[in-house]
Amino acid sequence: MKVDVRQSSLQDSGAALVAVGLYAGDSLPAEVAEAPGAADAKGSFKTMTRLYPGGGPERLLVVGLGERDAFDVEKLRVLGALVAGEAAKVEATSLAWALPECEDEAAAAEAIVTGTILGAYRFDRFKGEREENEEKPRLSSLTVLGPAELAGAAETARVYSEAANRARDLQETPANFAKPEDLAARAEEIAAGLDKVTVEVLDGDAIRAKGMGGLAAVSQGGPVDPRLIVLRYAGGGDGPTLGFVGKGVTFDTGGISLKPGAGMAEMKFDMSGAAAVLEGFAAIAELGLPVDLIGVVPSTENMPSGTAVKPGDVITQYNGKTVEVNNTDAEGRLILADALAYAVEQGAERVVDLATLTGAVLIALGSTYAAVISNDDELAAEVAAAGEESGELVWRLPLHPEYKEMMKGTVADLSNLASKREAGTITAASFLEEFVGDTPWAHVDIAGTAWDVNRAYTGKGGSGYGVRLLVQLVRDLAGRG
Ligand code: BES
Ligand code: MN
Ligand code: ZN
Repeated sequence: MKVDVRQSSLQDSGAALVAVGLYAGDSLPAEVAEAPGAADAKGSFKTMTRLYPGGGPERLLVVGLGERDAFDVEKLRVLGALVAGEAAKVEATSLAWALPECEDEAAAAEAIVTGTILGAYRFDRFKGEREENEEKPRLSSLTVLGPAELAGAAETARVYSEAANRARDLQETPANFAKPEDLAARAEEIAAGLDKVTVEVLDGDAIRAKGMGGLAAVSQGGPVDPRLIVLRYAGGGDGPTLGFVGKGVTFDTGGISLKPGAGMAEMKFDMSGAAAVLEGFAAIAELGLPVDLIGVVPSTENMPSGTAVKPGDVITQYNGKTVEVNNTDAEGRLILADALAYAVEQGAERVVDLATLTGAVLIALGSTYAAVISNDDELAAEVAAAGEESGELVWRLPLHPEYKEMMKGTVADLSNLASKREAGTITAASFLEEFVGDTPWAHVDIAGTAWDVNRAYTGKGGSGYGVRLLVQLVRDLAGRG
């Protein structure tokens, strides 16, 4: 989407649809107050009134902002998406949005751009050319009507929102088209297209030769070769080197501990952490943020077969710890263990991992908050703050030696399956903690937020969750606000 910021009257914007916000109890700006029907426009949140002023903009959309005191950027993201929906209805290809009066105009401009771009997203790669699927004209340009100094904020939002939509493409792409080698190809494309970015890809032989026993074990049940993808970005700055790790299981059948058939198709989304890390990384490099960054994505299918890892098998992880694989469906932690140890060894001084790790997080937090679990109060607080700012919310859950105790093995150092079912999200994180040493680390369990979140701007299907969170985290750490 083409995005720009321009100071212009509603009349002269030139857009096919012009959106103007109205707070509850306020009156419309004089330039449109006389339009036929204007008296019916309401300021209650999400109320939309379409006007045809004649002489002014072709179509004017009055957007209810709700109470002035209760206004925030999340409401504006939602409205951005609803307005994008209205634009689709009238087949408008250009949209202008008059920046509402508010405290933080830069944040408001970002929210409008984000809501519009995410709200306009569709995944139709596999839709045929039948008549009902006929290509409708799409919204292709957004003008924020406001002070030109907001152009930087709008551009930043465009970059991370389009990155989030690319992550959604990766998520939505079915497992027969999105294999570990395809995620690696995307990483290679990212590195080829951006300054200061390099990539390294390990295949199955290299993974086994390096002793990454978790990734090797999960991949051995199927014919698809795994990958360990490593992106590096030398953006500089004075901060610590950050490491982002994303779970890239391109399909999770559960393996020998097979999942039930109902809903299994959703497990194409089990690479959502990888999608967020790849595209979040790309956005950070595209924005040129001053940080040194390592992105590590372990990627494999999890399949049952005669060669698959079996319940009770013992494996050795990259850091030398031994693990009893007591449930082959707890595969995410096995591949993340190797990747976390590798990220730390490669110089990451603070690590954030994103993973669709446990069904339990859906029970705990639904699709509103992801869980963050961390060995470091400062990093946990930074992740939570980035969540509030970006709208990709995270809620901290605790660690405790009693949870760690539940992950001890009988014949090996650790078990990948807790001795009790309760606190499943935390016990999974306690397992991961064994692989980061003393490095500050935050694990974000996105199994509830990665798809079907039903927010106006993400709706059904892949949400791209994590891209905006990671970008915001780096912006905050790099001191750019
Ligand atoms: N990918 C799943 C987690 C998941 C489940 C994500 C449902 C989204 C929706 C993960 O690999 C898994 O199977 N976890 C198990 C762990 C258990 C066997 C300890 C789970 O949560 O049931
Ligand atoms: Mn699983
Ligand atoms: Zn999984």
